[in-house]
Amino acid sequence: METKVLVTYASKYGATAAIAEKIAEILSQAGLKTEALPVNRVVNTKPYQAVVLGTALYIGRWRKDAVKFMQKHEEALAEQPVWIFASGPTGTEPITNTSEGWHISKKLQETLEHIAPIELKLFHGDIDLDKITSLEKWLIDRVKAPVGDFRQWEAIKAWAKDIAGQIKEKTLQTA
Ligand SMILES: Cc1cc2nc3c(=O)[nH]c(=O)nc-3n(C[C@H](O)[C@H](O)[C@H](O)COP(=O)(O)O)c2cc1C
Repeated sequence: METKVLVTYASKYGATAAIAEKIAEILSQAGLKTEALPVNRVVNTKPYQAVVLGTALYIGRWRKDAVKFMQKHEEALAEQPVWIFASGPTGTEPITNTSEGWHISKKLQETLEHIAPIELKLFHGDIDLDKITSLEKWLIDRVKAPVGDFRQWEAIKAWAKDIAGQIKEKTLQTA
């Protein structure tokens, strides 16, 4: 059976979408049939042998679309290998604690525990002043978040290569 992988994302201004596209590209190059889709275009995750979900972070929260996606597909995802990433922090400080400062509701926490992702990864993000609203600019200014594109493509590619290896191992085991 051909291994199909879904890379799905909840992105407001495109930075997370581009990370998801890059991950999908690496998985495809590794010989996996990969589709990259925004979360609201996914009808069913069951046809895929593995799922990668990406969300942007806003004010300590995941995008609502990503939360909805997890809740809608919870039963299927709990049976599938799932990797989750978030794109958020700007600046060059190394990322230490993945979920530090996140507001995760009790319901989302339960869903996460049920799905039991293989990994929850945090990547640096991109704040583009030409895209965000004036209220968002004000917020960013207040918390003194660095502005600019801090996505670390080498780290993203390395993570995707690691996932490709794990998926291939799993599908060989179940073949
Ligand atoms: C108003 C605003 C609030 C943000 N809040 C957070 C936050 O709480 N934590 C974080 O790590 N990043 C935060 N970010 C950074 C974004 O998560 C980052 O820019 C991300 O890469 C955007 O992805 P997107 O273009 O896919 O929406 C915030 C950005 C904006 C504009």
